[in-house]
Amino acid sequence: MFKIDINGQSFPCSKENNLVQAARAKMIKVPCACVGGGCGICKVKIVSGQYEMDTYAKSALSDEEAEKGYVLLCKTRPLSDLQIELIS
Ligand code: FES
Repeated sequence: MFKIDINGQSFPCSKENNLVQAARAKMIKVPCACVGGGCGICKVKIVSGQYEMDTYAKSALSDEEAEKGYVLLCKTRPLSDLQIELIS
């Protein structure tokens, strides 16, 4: 289980769960809408930590954004503790 910090709030998340599932399990509100990698509402910036992302729409997150450390919460699974910054 990894520790996820998002704008001062933290919750646990295993590498099998995405960050939206884990936040909801602890009643922590995070931006999300489609929960399918299509809308981009859940875009955040990873400040530190390792992660992997499942398939998502390029219209929701461009390759350039992904290279800069932006991710979609609904398609990201942690591989270490993560520090995340909300961008909206
Ligand atoms: S909630 Fe729509 S892309 Fe994550």
